[in-house]
Amino acid sequence: MRFDVLTLFPEGVEAMLGESIIGRARARGHLALHTHQIRDYTLNKQKQVDDYPYGGGLGMVMQADPLYRCWEHVVSAAGRGRTILLSPQGRPFDQEQARRLAALDHLILVCGHYEGVDERFTEACVDEELSLGDFVLTGGEIPAVAVCDAVGRLIPGVLSDEACFTGESHWDGLLEYPQYSRPEVWHDRAVPPVLLSGNHKDIAAWRREQSLARTRLRRPDLWAKHEGDG
Ligand SMILES: C[S@@+](CC[C@H](N)C(=O)[O-])C[C@H]1O[C@@H](n2cnc3c(N)ncnc32)[C@H](O)[C@@H]1O
Repeated sequence: MRFDVLTLFPEGVEAMLGESIIGRARARGHLALHTHQIRDYTLNKQKQVDDYPYGGGLGMVMQADPLYRCWEHVVSAAGRGRTILLSPQGRPFDQEQARRLAALDHLILVCGHYEGVDERFTEACVDEELSLGDFVLTGGEIPAVAVCDAVGRLIPGVLSDEACFTGESHWDGLLEYPQYSRPEVWHDRAVPPVLLSGNHKDIAAWRREQSLARTRLRRPDLWAKHEGDG
């Protein structure tokens, strides 16, 4: 799978996605990720990418042309990948969306900044808008990194085993059970004895119980859906 990220801050995106599991997956060739500096596609000496909004108002707007030229460069080099604008006005991004996107072979992620991007670029080039949640960030880089990470870890070979993600929170609509590691007692808090029993059937039953209880308590919305589906 290939990701292309169009951004004013490629170093920030690289800093997060060049490390750890996704960084190693890139090095091993399980996925390809390229960042593109939108400023490199301006035609003015100052490399200015923004201008005042028509109609007045606070802030600046990212102009359509540098974005278009950057996007066109990616499309002509690597093909017309599904183009996603990160936006607080988009469809909420969740595990279901991550699974949907992981089945595609090429994503082009566009990071807005300032007051956002000229609507005409969105109309001409964007297939969908995705939001990280109902809050406003200063730029689309954090959401783009989140999307690449959440989608990237679902690509075969990135994690050691599929069970690494199929057992986790949100895969089947539930939250995961609590996790513990050494030592057995830490600050007077002991690991639940069943986890030390070696009885895999009892451990699985305890984990299932914890997962259901957590979901019911912490996420009544997910619980209602789980009960409805069941
Ligand atoms: C300050 S925001 C622009 C907000 C826009 N004026 C509005 O009210 O909808 C600048 C950029 O950050 C990104 N952004 C901010 N919040 C986001 C969110 N919740 N999810 C995804 N992207 C977001 C988008 O790329 C957006 O173009």
